[in-house]
Parts: sequence; structure tokens; C-alpha cells
Amino acid sequence: MDRIRIVGGAKLNGTIPISGAKNAALPLMIAGLLSEETLILDNVPRLADVAQLQRILGNHGVDIMSAGKRPGAREYQGQTLHISAADIIDTTAPYELVSRMRASFWVIAPLLARMHEARVSLPGGCAIGTRPVDLLIMALEKLGAEITIDGGYVIAKAPGGLKGATIEFPKVTVSGTHVAVMAATLARGTTVITNAACEPEILDVADCLNKMGARILGAGTPRIVVEGVVKLNGARHTVLPDRIETGTYAMAVTMTGGDVQLAGARPELLQSALDVLTQAGAVVAVNNEGIRVTRNGAGIRPVKVSTAPFPGFPTDLQAQLMALMACAGGASRITETIFENRFMHVQELARFGARISLDGETATIDGIARLRGAPVMATDLRASVSLVIAGLAAEGETMVNRVYHLDRGFERLEEKLSACGASIERISD
Ligand code: EPZ
Repeated sequence: MDRIRIVGGAKLNGTIPISGAKNAALPLMIAGLLSEETLILDNVPRLADVAQLQRILGNHGVDIMSAGKRPGAREYQGQTLHISAADIIDTTAPYELVSRMRASFWVIAPLLARMHEARVSLPGGCAIGTRPVDLLIMALEKLGAEITIDGGYVIAKAPGGLKGATIEFPKVTVSGTHVAVMAATLARGTTVITNAACEPEILDVADCLNKMGARILGAGTPRIVVEGVVKLNGARHTVLPDRIETGTYAMAVTMTGGDVQLAGARPELLQSALDVLTQAGAVVAVNNEGIRVTRNGAGIRPVKVSTAPFPGFPTDLQAQLMALMACAGGASRITETIFENRFMHVQELARFGARISLDGETATIDGIARLRGAPVMATDLRASVSLVIAGLAAEGETMVNRVYHLDRGFERLEEKLSACGASIERISD
């Protein structure tokens, strides 16, 4: 299995192109199941999760053509996918495929909306808590689906089609909101979703669905109204830039020091994280090409942060912030409010010498002057990249094992970082 070797200590200087957002690309690809016509997605990142979802959609009979790099195209341009779900040949999403990626469970919504039935294995995904699907099932039941669970599969049926309804989410859920919106597009009548997730990826998917002929109002706010239509058309849509990748590299340069242009990044997608970085001592400047992050000389200042749904500080940047705070000049506190078990990186960061204590949902980090490189391993995607950030700033060599987690969500990570002066290489055994 591949490993990543880092020799820490170099400042990062240069330009990092930001890829399309994984967490928009995945539901956008799934939305392709809603139409018989072709959905063309541009700026899709080349990631293991995208390839895995291609396999899952292929199993339902979806044809996906991936256009290669065009002559003259920018080196890091994402891929273009042509997704054609003219004939859905199978409405079962099997355990072998779904257990490897949680978001693939979301196919239940378009399958049910268009084919009036779906049989989808309960999901797997990152080890960051129990991550139930009760709210997704609640939303589909409100829309008139009959749901049973048998042998590890969720079996959903709506023989006469789905019917518009009011769906009140008791807690903010990104997955629940995606599923409710997708299912409601082809339901008869009006659906009102309250306490909806406001994440930018929800808005991106709704924009694409509206291009396909859906009638969705209010996406990006807590109240979304969907007027059902009989069918959806093909469309062309560009995936928005990845705010978590942006925040990750912004934290890396804040930690190592240096001056990096995050090309194509959009500051409004991660303002809360940029504010925290400014508090920590980074200089964040917005320009026509994206966001420029610099830290020269001054030390890293400690912060107190709680994760929260958008527009709050994202849980997907919590591990990376913890790595940064391991070198702050004082004690920081980070509280995780979204997932109950998203602290698997704490014991790995300790291998670098980080001083972190946990009390329930809150981690207290006593910053030290310098981390020391170490062999490390992580259990989820964002935790893995926090170890890379720590390794970039640490003295000496770090070996990050289980690189497949990184490949699920960070496109050409080592290429992008080494282009900015980091000593980082992939070792394939
Ligand atoms: C999405 O997961 C993202 N995944 C996650 O990113 C991200 O951490 C998360 O949203 C929060 O922003 C994708 O977009 C593919 P939720 P999701 O439904 O949709 C609970 C990454 O690293 N809940 O908003 O699964 C749940 O347990 C990943 O890229 C229920 O209780 O998250 C959690 O505590 C990791 N019942 C909270 O809600 C349900 O039926 C928020 O989950 C559904 C969720």
C-alpha cells in the first residue's frame, strides 16, 4: 500500500490550484440518475471516491464517459463527466459497493423518485461516529415512501410515485437535505423543507437540478421549497471549488509559514475558517485569482473554535486546525459538535509530540514550539491530511501510512505541495 514520506521544515511558497469539491461532485453525479438525458459535469476532481461512485452508478446501468484533458487545457483542470442514465437496469445498490462510501447511499432518492423503488445497502464510510440514516428515511417516508429494512438493506417503495410534503429536520443534516431535495424534484406537488442544511454544496446541487428543469427555491437557506415536475432534462454544470481543500492548504501555509496563492478558491465558501486563520496570525487576502495566504515571522496564536453547520467552522477542517494549534503559542480549545467521535487524529498527532487532552467533545491543545516527525496512520480522510500538515511543519521525517484515505478526497496532494517547495513524495511498495 502506498505511503507518503515528508521531510518537514520547508516554508510553502507558490500557487496551489483548487480542485472541484468532492462533496458537491458526488451528489451531482447521483443527481444524474434523475434524468433520461445526459448530465455533463465539468471540474470533477479525480478522486478515488469519484471513481467508486462511477462504479456504483454503472451498476444501475448509467453510462459515464470521462473526457480526457483537452489540448491547451490547464494542467490541473478537473475532468468532464458525461452521465447518461437513459435506462436504469437495476434499482439495487449492493453492500459490496455502498459499504465503501457513505454518500453512495444517497442513490436511494433518485431511484425512488424516478423508478418508484430502490433497495440500497446501509452505508459505510469514514470512521467518525455512528452516522445513522434515520433522518434520510424520515424524509422519504414523509414523501410517501414505504420503507422496510431487511438483511442490511433499506427497501423503499412508492408504487404511485412520491408526493410533496412538509419535511422538518430536527437537526441540520447535509445528507438528509440532499436526499429530500433530490426526491422532491420528481414528487407530485410542493415540498417544503425546514431546518435544511445551508452548505454551499446544497446550493450547487440545487443550481444544477434547476438547470435540469427542477423548480427549487431557497437552497442555501434553512427553508427550501421544491415544486415537483414530471421529468428532468439534461444540463451542463461546473462543480464549485472545494472549500475544504482550500482551508486545508490555507492551514498548511499558516503552519509552515510562507506565501501561497490558492488559485480558483472562493472566500465566501469558508469565511469562518479564514477568520480563524486570521486570528491565528495568517494574513488572508482576496484577489482576482482566489485567496492568498501568508505568514511570515510572527508565531501562531491560539484560538477557541467550535465546529458548526455552515456558515460556522466546518467539521471537515477540525483535524487540520488541531494540527495547526499543536504549534500555537499557548492553549487552544476545539469543540466538535457535528460528529461524536471525530477525534481519531488526536492519538496520531501525539506521535509528533503534540500535547492534546480530550474532555468529551472538547480538545485542549497546549502548543509547543516544534513538532517532531514520526510514522503515523489515520482512520479517516480529514484526519489523514491533518497528519500531512503536521509533517510539513515538523522537524525531520514523517511517514504517513494508509494513503488511500487521502486519495479519496485530495487530488494530487503531493504534487500540489511539492510544487510549493515541500519535501513530500509517494512511496509505492
Ligand atoms: C456530509 O456528511 C459530508 N459528506 C461530510 O464530509 C461532512 O463532514 C458532513 O456533511 C457535515 O458537514 C459529504 O458531503 C459526502 P450530515 P453527511 O448528514 O451528509 C447526524 C468528508 O470528510 N445524522 O450533515 O453524512 C450525523 O450522524 C465528509 O468529506 C443523523 O443523526 O453529514 C451527524 O452527527 C465526512 N441522522 C449530523 O447528523 C441522519 O439520518 C450531520 O450529518 C443523518 C445524519
